[in-house]
Amino acid sequence: MILPDGYSDVPAGKIAAVVTHLEMTARPARRDDPPGSRTLRKVDAPALHWYRDLHRRVGEEWLWFSRPRMSDAELAAIIHAPDIEIYALVVDGRDDGLLELDFREPGQCELAYFGVTAGLIGTGAARFLMNRALELAWSRDIRRFWVHTCTFDHPSAVAFYQRSGFQPFRRQIEIADDPRLDGTAPRDAARHVPIIE
Ligand SMILES: CC(C)(COP(=O)(O)OP(=O)(O)OC[C@H]1O[C@@H](n2cnc3c(N)ncnc32)[C@H](O)[C@@H]1OP(=O)(O)O)[C@@H](O)C(=O)NCCC(=O)NCCS
Repeated sequence: MILPDGYSDVPAGKIAAVVTHLEMTARPARRDDPPGSRTLRKVDAPALHWYRDLHRRVGEEWLWFSRPRMSDAELAAIIHAPDIEIYALVVDGRDDGLLELDFREPGQCELAYFGVTAGLIGTGAARFLMNRALELAWSRDIRRFWVHTCTFDHPSAVAFYQRSGFQPFRRQIEIADDPRLDGTAPRDAARHVPIIE
């Protein structure tokens, strides 16, 4: 459906975001890793509680609600799929960043989840993680690497992805039930998106 020009009402209890899709069709120039000690750890067949905890610590503030809403069976079907790769960014011995690559579509890779926990934002950790994401994605036989981000996400995300070599190509509006009203996320998460009941 194409929304008409002008303002569209969003029902109370719902949230709405502008979604930007970005893609690259060739391996971009390498960027330097910022200084700092970090490692990447591949997590094969992640335990659901481990995945839920890291995903929540990275994404709750940015209203990442789809995975938290899934049942264990639905979540396991995705994160244990053979063409999904999950990595943890390890800083000071803690898993504090999440990288999820989805190779289920032949010839493509989706950067399905990407982010670091609050204390690592602006420290260079995300650039380190993106450098690893680009290496891993383009080490496979793909022709396209893509991602989408939305206005619930950290405000630096679109520019960060563009500096990483992704070009914007599609814009959408996403409307969903507010995850803070059904217990999926705490009521005080994401104050940049106020609750309207
Ligand atoms: C959005 C997000 C990925 C942006 O990352 P960030 O924290 O601003 O990124 P970094 O601090 O790692 O890097 C930003 C820039 O500062 C530079 N930088 C940061 N610390 C540095 C340091 N100590 N020395 C030198 N350079 C440094 C990096 O090299 C990078 O430069 P570049 O982009 O020109 O290569 C990150 O904030 C995040 O994970 N947010 C939470 C989750 C989220 O919203 N994810 C995206 C949703 S799809």
